[in-house]
Amino acid sequence: MTQPVEISFTDTAPEKLAEHEGRVALILTATDRLPGGLPRPTRQAATRALDSKAGQALKPGQVLELAFPAGMAAESLMLVMLPHGSTQSEARIAGAAIGARLGKSHTLVMAGGHAQANDVALGLALRSYDFSVYHTDQQDGDGTRPHVTFLVKKPEELAKVASDAAALAEGVFFTRDLVNEPANILTTSDFADRLQAMEEIGLEVEVLEEDELEALGMRALLAVGQGSEAPSKVVVMRWNGGGDEAPLALVGKGVVFDTGGISIKPAAGMEDMTMDMGGAGVVAGVMRTLALRRAKANVVGLVGLVENMPDGKAQRPGDIVKSMKGDTIEVINTDAEGRLVLADVLWYAQERFEPSAIVDLATLTGAVIIALGHDNAGVFCNDDTFADQILTAAKAEGEGAWRLPLGKPYDDLIKSRLADIKNTGGRAAGSITAAQFLQRFIKPGQPWAHLDIAGVALPPSATDLAPKGATGWGVMTLDRLVRDQFEAK
Ligand code: BES
Ligand code: MN
Ligand code: ZN
Repeated sequence: MTQPVEISFTDTAPEKLAEHEGRVALILTATDRLPGGLPRPTRQAATRALDSKAGQALKPGQVLELAFPAGMAAESLMLVMLPHGSTQSEARIAGAAIGARLGKSHTLVMAGGHAQANDVALGLALRSYDFSVYHTDQQDGDGTRPHVTFLVKKPEELAKVASDAAALAEGVFFTRDLVNEPANILTTSDFADRLQAMEEIGLEVEVLEEDELEALGMRALLAVGQGSEAPSKVVVMRWNGGGDEAPLALVGKGVVFDTGGISIKPAAGMEDMTMDMGGAGVVAGVMRTLALRRAKANVVGLVGLVENMPDGKAQRPGDIVKSMKGDTIEVINTDAEGRLVLADVLWYAQERFEPSAIVDLATLTGAVIIALGHDNAGVFCNDDTFADQILTAAKAEGEGAWRLPLGKPYDDLIKSRLADIKNTGGRAAGSITAAQFLQRFIKPGQPWAHLDIAGVALPPSATDLAPKGATGWGVMTLDRLVRDQFEAK
């Protein structure tokens, strides 16, 4: 997987800053507060830059870059504005500005006693993500990776937060890699193998194969995969870091490619459907982070891995399938496949684990993009307290999330003439009827939230903390949720 840049913290200033090659970033709390120890010509150049119109206009988190600064061997001097008392998100964005300019060389970040050095480091790590495995010209033969040194007053005080942040960055990178991978590489089997490999970091991983899914009665999930050569799978990942309390369950939609099936999608943009396993990708990334930071909580991650393809064995519009729960489903549109997968995995999660709460994540509907664009995931929840906890966690981590309603009038839209329920409710309120469908597979009294991440998993342009491509949206929110609500303090 793509490894986050290596970041170390030290209180030992380089002997000769002037001779430091690579890049140097200064974290400034004000335009008139340059740190000591700068070579004279460098100090003069930086002062001029900060006195300029651009310098005076620097907002928290913004950067002014001087190329080949006078008096230094460095190729670049970054002046990073971060006043005391900036928000966590400004500190991460400041780090991201450095991370976006890392290059291949060593970067020295002079953070002094800044209280937010750790968030700067996290933002730097997240934004420096680069998925270029398939750019053959960018594979450097010597394998050198950039590394970063933070010069801070008390490195030992940062050690625990820094290692937790590294665990978080690694989880986010794992998710981004999975989402960015094309479907000929990330098949259901390859996906399951990558999850199984997390046994190395202490997760218990089980892969359920088609015969077992059949025996469990997961006909809704299997129907989605039956038009593909790739075998359908359910993977269960367990992190038991708590006591004997019931686990939090995270459930992810893992459609490795969504052609739409017989209700086939138009060609334009279909290539983006390699990201239709984004929910499963987030579940996997969170489980990785929890294991790496040895979270004191019980969490089980379940993903349904299938490929939605049209062939002679594919399900058709009009088919009626029986879910593991026992409810029959009329498949109006084979492109509304994610809910069929989740129906069975959600039911299985409740039957087997009796979780204290469930969060499912899915790139479920195009309609959520119409409603919320690419800046907010849609949040559906049957429990106001739980909804608030999720929204609070998302806000704390700077990940956009917006609650949308559930309710009987929407549920009425998915009544079927022939079966217990149908898998589409028409154009109106498309994301809500999808959520209502899922709720049919949630037991009464079971706290549950559904996050529709179709708009935020792979937005069309770079975000504050991610280059263009997969964002890993949700890993930080769920890690925060576990920390704040499910972890023994
Ligand atoms: N995977 C898609 C949803 C999607 C769309 C994700 C765009 C990311 C970007 C989902 O399986 C789907 O096709 N949903 C249909 C449902 C419809 C047939 C009721 C949709 O949104 O059009
Ligand atoms: Mn679909
Ligand atoms: Zn889909």
